[in-house]
Amino acid sequence: MPKIWPPIAFPINGCRVNKSVSKYYNGSDRELAQRYIRDIADIGTKEYYEAALAHRYGLYPEIPRIAAFESFKDKDVLEIGVGQGADHFMFAKGGASLSGIDLTEKHCRMTRQFLDAFGLHSNVLNGSACNLPFPSASFDHVYSCGVLLLVQDIEKALSEIYRVLRPGGTVTLMLYNKRSLHYLVKTRLYYGWMLGEDKAIGRQAVNDWYTDGPGYVRVYHYAPRDLKWIYKGFCDIAYQTSCLTPEQMPEVGLPLDNKASRWLERRFGFFLWGTARKP
Ligand SMILES: C[S@@+](CC[C@H](N)C(=O)[O-])C[C@H]1O[C@@H](n2cnc3c(N)ncnc32)[C@H](O)[C@@H]1O
Repeated sequence: MPKIWPPIAFPINGCRVNKSVSKYYNGSDRELAQRYIRDIADIGTKEYYEAALAHRYGLYPEIPRIAAFESFKDKDVLEIGVGQGADHFMFAKGGASLSGIDLTEKHCRMTRQFLDAFGLHSNVLNGSACNLPFPSASFDHVYSCGVLLLVQDIEKALSEIYRVLRPGGTVTLMLYNKRSLHYLVKTRLYYGWMLGEDKAIGRQAVNDWYTDGPGYVRVYHYAPRDLKWIYKGFCDIAYQTSCLTPEQMPEVGLPLDNKASRWLERRFGFFLWGTARKP
């Protein structure tokens, strides 16, 4: 098992960043291809990107609805943690005037290449969520999916988002839900306690590794009520949850297509989507 605990925090652009985060993502540029899109197409081709989009929105069909990619035409949009570029491409395709940032230079490059392949453009910069290299009041919308849950100083990141938003600007974040079946039932109850993994590898490693696989970096989970302090100074705070999969109820499973499961997904899904507006 790779040694990732305890994490080492070091300052990048004025923000304490878990060293294992940049190390992990620097080493994972082919991860999507290796894990999911084998045999379909070579990375960097249009076919590859189309397969990546089909894969992502097949797995998470709620993302386009929640992110509302199409509704930011001609608006100034910033995505924090562009990753391998799928959501960034969707904003660009929807006509947003787009900027992006990622801690990992490799992911910046991959995202630029993704957009280039379709003749689209964004100002993608290498940097940290905690020190955004953009002037104050320069965006109408900030979006970040699965990124601030990796950031130790989430309050600093939110103060930066507040700064770069114009008054009336909006923010959508996806964090991991601490009040989810994934966290409470699968991670804590089943693996942590019943299978004794807390004792074997430690509670924190159980939380991290059962989120995204063995060796995954330190993650932070948040309850819906945490959005109140996370979105300090913002108004119109709202949330919804998504992502319910059968293995979130180990040994039992979950029916995925009935009223009850949709109800569960809306209340106890693993993805906590919070939106807010700068007054
Ligand atoms: C789980 S991936 C999510 C990528 C993409 N948003 C998605 O939904 O597929 C996390 C991404 O955030 C980036 N990241 C992690 N910490 C960051 C930080 N402090 N500032 C900016 N980007 C960060 C990583 O390099 C990686 O590309």
